[in-house]
Amino acid sequence: MNEVYIPEIFNENEGELHIENVSLKSIAEKYGTPVYVTSALRIEQNYNEILQAFRKRLDNFSIKYAVKANSNPNIIRILAKMGAGADVSNLTEYELAKLGGISDKKIIMTPNNMDAQSLREMSKKGITINFDDINQMNSVKDSLPEIVSFRINPGRGRGEFPGTTTAGPEAKFGLPLEKAMEGYSMAKEAGATKFGIHMMTGSNVLDPAYFGSISSVIFDLSIELSKKLGIEFSYIDIGGGFGVPYRPGETRLDMDKVAENICTEMKRKFSSAGLKIPDLYMEPGRYLVSDSTVLVGKVTNIKDNGKIFIGTDMGMTTLLRPALYGAYHHISPVISGAKGKTIEHCKIVGQVCENTDVIGEGRTFPTLSVGDLLAVFNAGAYGYSMSMNFNGNLRPAEILIRDGKDIIIRRRETVQDIVQTVV
Ligand SMILES: Cc1ncc(COP(=O)(O)O)c(C=O)c1O
Repeated sequence: MNEVYIPEIFNENEGELHIENVSLKSIAEKYGTPVYVTSALRIEQNYNEILQAFRKRLDNFSIKYAVKANSNPNIIRILAKMGAGADVSNLTEYELAKLGGISDKKIIMTPNNMDAQSLREMSKKGITINFDDINQMNSVKDSLPEIVSFRINPGRGRGEFPGTTTAGPEAKFGLPLEKAMEGYSMAKEAGATKFGIHMMTGSNVLDPAYFGSISSVIFDLSIELSKKLGIEFSYIDIGGGFGVPYRPGETRLDMDKVAENICTEMKRKFSSAGLKIPDLYMEPGRYLVSDSTVLVGKVTNIKDNGKIFIGTDMGMTTLLRPALYGAYHHISPVISGAKGKTIEHCKIVGQVCENTDVIGEGRTFPTLSVGDLLAVFNAGAYGYSMSMNFNGNLRPAEILIRDGKDIIIRRRETVQDIVQTVV
């Protein structure tokens, strides 16, 4: 049971790893490495899985894709065509969501410490904002959005890493439970007549019971606010955080159980309070796109210093998560059974002048030589969107696989691209 979960869109054919039956070796030859390769089909499967699990229990349920996970407009467009809305955190993500074909009425904004001018700009466009603080709402009191919502910090959160645990006493996000009454009563005084409520408590959680229990805190709070302030909530947004199996032995989150836990609690609590059930929004990022994508890179050197370092053309500038959080990504040779020697307990590294420049460590490969291709799984979320130019590294190309065809959706960067802002 120590296998890594790999979706069925990946298969091995004559010893070569394929995605949607397209050879990753052929993609690397055509577009060079490092390269992100994404299956459109897998994104659609993930979207449908969530939608079906919730819609069979609740009609008024919508998915707002968290654009930060992968903000290529071509990826956003896949979800837009399926009916998804978007959650954006700033003006740039808003523009990217629009480019991806998502209309204003389906976009929701969850900003953190945004300046008043930007908040006003969004509000004037009619974008619903999940305000992070009472001050933020007050800074645009004269032009509030039609629906006023606050991001609530329910006092506890859960995430795979401290950096991705976005609620609880140490988190910089949201309004604490004890300030919620003040926030909504000030919004009411300022003339708001429609309300929403939001939370986002952490990322990459694989325990289905957690989502029911943490959502219940927001359900209880919204019922209390409704009763005490005489207001009605148009929507409850439970954020993202739905985990994917990265590590050996981890299993896929049971989305049906997640939906069951959340919807049962929501219906029970609102019915017994005699209140209309608000619309339910969810903002998944990782769950929709993570396992749709592999990052393919090439081995450029094998160094045996007692410890073995596999040098590659990927690194922390192409995929930051291992360096930033110590995150685990499964790595496998694109061609199995290639000639070369078995390499045990090695560290897969890049070319950046930092010791944090790691893609994986403690890995064993049956055979590996310079020039071999490596596939890094679960690279679709917070992969390209966190990539950077440090050390003069150029960001890779992105390829979309759709119906057996490879489509370039972002070309590889050039030096010209990174000097064009220099004056
Ligand atoms: C406000 C908000 N919503 C949704 C998400 C998406 O989270 P995930 O990718 O874990 O689903 C995030 C991620 O940080 C977020 O900050």
